[in-house]
Amino acid sequence: MRTLHRKFMHVVIFIGSPRKDGNTTAMANLLAGKLRDDETIVELFDLYDHDIDPCIDCRECKKEQLVCMQTDGMKKLYAKMEEADVLVFGTPVYWFGPSGRTKLMIDRFKPYFINKKLYGKKGALLLPSAVDREESNLTIDQFKRLFKALGMEYLDAITIEAYEAGDVLKNNNLHDLIIDLKDRIIESHQNVLEE
Ligand SMILES: Cc1cc2nc3c(=O)[nH]c(=O)nc-3n(C[C@H](O)[C@H](O)[C@H](O)COP(=O)(O)O)c2cc1C
Repeated sequence: MRTLHRKFMHVVIFIGSPRKDGNTTAMANLLAGKLRDDETIVELFDLYDHDIDPCIDCRECKKEQLVCMQTDGMKKLYAKMEEADVLVFGTPVYWFGPSGRTKLMIDRFKPYFINKKLYGKKGALLLPSAVDREESNLTIDQFKRLFKALGMEYLDAITIEAYEAGDVLKNNNLHDLIIDLKDRIIESHQNVLEE
């Protein structure tokens, strides 16, 4: 039996909306609050507060240390991703996909394809979209394939219809959806502890 010497789970939530008072942020804050009630360490990062340059396909990450050679805001975010047990990506649906800033970040995951540092971590999604929940399908599919490529386990996504900032908070199902995702995250960690 494998023993894990760490009691507390560490969840990192990335917010990929430019609207500080927007729906993604509201969902992220609610999830963070519920996880903290369960003694989970939670950190939130607003991607629009970090400089994330595009991947330039220099292929340096395929050499020696297998890390990205760019020195921008991703340095800190890489470190957080590698520390965390669970990565939650919150992004508004923009043209059926993730926001531009989220896509910039995803492209910078290229080193993880080779160095496998995210292997075994879990991933979940928070996805507000205006028209209806089906609008999130491509984004969910993209993240599922991304997680698979990086050796991560997809846990779940909350998709919710919302347009104006704060619309999510008017949705009567939001509370239950957040609790369900929180339980799913906690349960995934307990499974690791029991292995
Ligand atoms: C550039 C842009 C593209 C969008 N594309 C879609 C879309 O394809 N489908 C959809 O349902 N909503 C779309 N929306 C609406 C946002 O997903 C929606 O307003 C969301 O609640 C914004 O989340 P936020 O408050 O966290 O920024 C788009 C919004 C913008 C600004």
